[in-house]
Amino acid sequence: MNTTMAAVAHECRTRGTAVGAFNAILLEHVEAIVAGAEDVGLPVVLQLSQNAAEYHGGLAPLARGALAIAEAASVPVIVHLDHADDEALVDEALAVGIRSVMFDASTADYAENVSRTANVVARCHAVGCWVEAELGEVGGKDGAHAPGARTDPDEAAAFVLATGVNALAVAVGSSHAMSSRDAVLDDELIARLRDAVDVPLVLHGSSGVPDDGLRAAVHHGITKVNVGTRLNVVMTYQVRRVLAERPELTDPRAYLAPGRDAIRSEVGRILRLLADGSGL
Ligand code: G3H
Ligand code: ZN
Repeated sequence: MNTTMAAVAHECRTRGTAVGAFNAILLEHVEAIVAGAEDVGLPVVLQLSQNAAEYHGGLAPLARGALAIAEAASVPVIVHLDHADDEALVDEALAVGIRSVMFDASTADYAENVSRTANVVARCHAVGCWVEAELGEVGGKDGAHAPGARTDPDEAAAFVLATGVNALAVAVGSSHAMSSRDAVLDDELIARLRDAVDVPLVLHGSSGVPDDGLRAAVHHGITKVNVGTRLNVVMTYQVRRVLAERPELTDPRAYLAPGRDAIRSEVGRILRLLADGSGL
């Protein structure tokens, strides 16, 4: 079902809830993420990262599949390009029909982050594409957790003004690629950031945040919650279990289907948790 990131984010902000945004690597992830959202009747963001595109040798094959599955879904599904630091990939995403993009120049210095992001915003807004950017690098993409990084609220306000971004990814204590769920978020900083900027805030590296931490983050002002690693943890656990029980299997469908089911139920569980509001 078609919708826009703007519409979903607006509804979440009005209700004090958040939308779940899940990273797909394989077509099985795409199918499971959409099925999980349909199970609970909630909108979902289906994210394809630059890394995933590189794995497949290009964005278009997975993106076309994702867009087709999104359009046929019974719930609103936004296909989103995640963590792109390559302007050419943003253009490729726009060409294929993606209308929600995260441009990530957070490793550059502030001035370069502003100028490259503003340039991408101009190109995207010309075709009605939503742009998320990052300020205050959320670490861990190279495998090393960096939970110490923090986004400064004054700098965040200036960045949003200077770039015209639609959403801001902030560093508030999470870090990417955690398979344990013990990250501690700075809720007071989330609230200060929410008050400092008038665009939705995005939490990256949410796999490492326990359920209570996610609830509190939503309560304090997070509107989009990005989850990737957690899906791979539950999928791989099931694949390992099936292969250990039945080592004679050779058809990938026999072990990928249980992995896909595991993603489906975890997506539904997390979407419900985020949509229930903080409960605090
Ligand atoms: O952009 C993607 C998310 O930040 C995913 O992070 O794999 O640590 O959940 P995660
Ligand atoms: Zn991320």
